[in-house]
Formats: sequence, structure tokens, C-alpha cells
Amino acid sequence: MTSSIDKARRDLEARAASLVMPKGFVFGAATASYQIEGAPAADGKGESIWDRFCKVPGVINDGSSGDVACDSYHRWGDDITVLKTLGLGAYRFSLAWTRLLPEGRGAPNAKGIAHYDRLIDGLLEAGIEPYLTLYHWDLPQALQERGGWYSRDTADALAEYAALAARSFGDRVKKWTTLNEPWTFCWSGHASGEDAPGLRDGTKGGVAASHHALLGHGKAVPAIRAEVPDASVGIVFDLNVAEPASTDPRDLAAARRFDGAQNRWFLDAVFKGAYPRDMLDLYGDLLPEIHADDNRLIAAPVDYLGVNIYRRSVIAAGTDLAPLNYRRVQPEGLYSAVGYEIWPRAMYDILRYVNDRYGPKAIYISENGVATRPEQVGADGHVWDDLRAAYYVDHLEQVAKAAAEGVPVKGYFAWTLMDNFEWAYGYTTPFGITHVDYETQERRIKYSGEIYAAIARQQGLVP
Ligand code: NOJ
Repeated sequence: MTSSIDKARRDLEARAASLVMPKGFVFGAATASYQIEGAPAADGKGESIWDRFCKVPGVINDGSSGDVACDSYHRWGDDITVLKTLGLGAYRFSLAWTRLLPEGRGAPNAKGIAHYDRLIDGLLEAGIEPYLTLYHWDLPQALQERGGWYSRDTADALAEYAALAARSFGDRVKKWTTLNEPWTFCWSGHASGEDAPGLRDGTKGGVAASHHALLGHGKAVPAIRAEVPDASVGIVFDLNVAEPASTDPRDLAAARRFDGAQNRWFLDAVFKGAYPRDMLDLYGDLLPEIHADDNRLIAAPVDYLGVNIYRRSVIAAGTDLAPLNYRRVQPEGLYSAVGYEIWPRAMYDILRYVNDRYGPKAIYISENGVATRPEQVGADGHVWDDLRAAYYVDHLEQVAKAAAEGVPVKGYFAWTLMDNFEWAYGYTTPFGITHVDYETQERRIKYSGEIYAAIARQQGLVP
């Protein structure tokens, strides 16, 4: 090892050691069912839209799928061992809807429920709190065939599924998330088509899916509370403060439209009980039917907001997708393997943004992390992912700064516990703090994982 790398590592470790989070701050790691579980047809599991989508030639960069992934359906015990070794207090994971309800609705599948029983019991035995997400993008294919997120019935199906999950696991699971990143799964799945179900219906598709997904959230919240009165229930949004590329009024207006589409549309609906007027006007004829009671249902009070944040967004006027007509500008800088600019200040900015405008009771950073190219285990047995290690320290410093100013940020989840299936990128852009050897399924904690674990561990020692 050259001495400059060595020095950079010691400097980073010193910064990590001086990070102070509020008392009781939760450190965890996150995953999602389709990205890690494999076993797509085991024990009566039904087909999901991602099972189906990955079979379409050309849609996944490396032609892969989640068919095996990290084989967590069988190796969940190994995942718990990694969490334990890291010393993390929380694990955010999602249920595969089609394991519980193979057809999306109707008769529950006891074997699927039993799988998550084992995982949850294992976590609790290890002293790790489960943070359960109901919907992380793997809609039952049977529901897709009946319209998927274009249909209001899917909102009711989500609420039924939520009730079943809450009834099954609510005695042990107290942290519940309804949806993960509706902006992305609605727009990438229905407007641009790069994610499942691969529909390219433009803005009309994105908005219709968004409304029905939010309606599903609004119906799922009381369904969970009815079964688990002491549950803490929230939703996870992928948010980004929009930075106009210039002071040109056209760029300012484009940045406002981006902010409206990705941030305010979702936040206003949940926290203010109405969609933003400017966006309703902009979408106009492209809006789906919005029933009289929908706004009230969607605004069911939540206990926390989860924020997934990866990058900053510099926005200029452009012709991407009418009538939003904005485009991303990529300023010179450092970029991750999925083309996201590495810009730690985006963390602080989004925390202030949601706190100052919406004042949620509690905020979790439910995902944050960085993609690299696939990494090798070195001759010394380590995976030295220095870029990722620095990413975590840089971003956690921004979290600490916001917390010190009084933003109620209660916890942080690294994306992701281990390398896994990164949607349309397949296995080409790992995000893990743990390396996975897909030949042997061996999990090996990377340097970033060690740094992150050290940060988590030392918090308990701060008086
Ligand atoms: C957000 C999504 O929730 C997660 O599934 C994905 O892997 C990460 N972003 C990284 O792109």
C-alpha cells in the first residue's frame, strides 16, 4: 500500500471517529426483496412484474435477473450474520408481495409468510430491529394483468396485502413503510419504461400510476394501524432539491417543474392533503380521475418520512418529457457508476428542504450509498472501496450537521447491505458495503462496511 493511500485512510477514519449523531440515532442497512432473494418460484411464490420484465431481451444491461441474486431466500441467516458483525441496530428490507399472495389478492400462502417469520425472528434474536417495507417495486404480475398501477383496484389490493402482513408480523414488527420511491417506480415503470412493467406511456402513465400508488398508501396506513395500534408507519420518497442550472427564467421554471413532479407532488399530497396547483394545471388533461375523497385518504397522518437520497439535481429547460420539459445538466465533477454526481451537500439540502417545508415528526434517511464497478477481493483478502468509504463519511457529516441544527433525523440506512441486483443495471454497478461472490455466495464486508460499522459502534459510546 502506498503511503498516500494509507494517509487518506487514516484521515478518513479520524473524521469518522469524530462524527456525533443525536442520542438514540439508528444505524442500519437496507435491501429489497427482488434485489436479493432469488428463488422466484419457491414454496408457492407467484410471478411479479420484475420476474416477467427481466425476461424481455435487452432491458437489463447484462441480460441478468434476480432469479438467484444473493439467494437470500435461503441464506437469510448469512445476511443476519453480516448485520450482526457490522453491529447494526436495524435492517430495512421488503416483502415480496407474491410470496404472501401469489395472485396479488385472495388466498394467502402460508409458506411465504413462514419465510418472513423466520427472518423477523432471526433479526430480533440478534437484537436487530426490522424496518419492513411493503412495496419495493415487485407488483404481482396477476395485478398487472388487471391494470396494475393504472387501476384504482390496485390501491385496494395494496391495503389488503398491508392488512395481511400487519396481521402476520405486527406482533414483532413495529416500523412499517408502505411504498418505496413512488416517483421512480411510477415514472420509470410507466412513463419512460426502463423499469418494470416497462410501459412507455409518457407523463400520462407516470401521473396515473403515481395517483393510484399514493391512494394505495393512503389506504394501507389505516389498514396497518388497525392491526398494529403501536406501529410507526411511514412512506419512503426519493427526493432531490432542484438546482436551476442558471438564472435564466426558463431554467428557473424548469427547476420548479422538476421540483413539482418529483418532490412536491408526493410531499404535498401526503403532508398537505392536496396536489400542488401548478402541477395540476401543468398535467391538465393527462391527469387520471381523482375522486372527491382521494386527497383526504392520501393524507392519512404518518409517523415518519423516509428519504432516499443519492445525488444532486441540476436542472435546465429541455425537451425530456412533455409537459415537464426539463433536463438534467451534468456539471463537471465526480460521478458514480450509475452516473450520479457525488455531492454530499445534497444530503443536508434535502433534510432542510423537507423539514422546513413539511415538518414531518421524524425523518429517516432510508437509503444513501454509491455505485462502483464490480470489485475484486484483493490478495490481502480485503475489498478496498475507498470511494464508497469516503462517500459514507462525507454524507453522514451532512446528516450530523442537519441534526445539530434541530432537523429530527432519527436514523440512517446504508444502501445497501450487500452487492445485489441493481435493476436495469443488473450486476454491473454494485452498491454494497459487503461484497458478494456470486459463484460461492460468500459475503465479505468491504472497507466501507468497516468504516460504517465503526461509526455506528462509537455512537453508543458517546455520552
Ligand atoms: C433506490 C431504490 O430504492 C433501490 O432499489 C436501488 O437499488 C437504489 N436506489 C440504487 O439505485
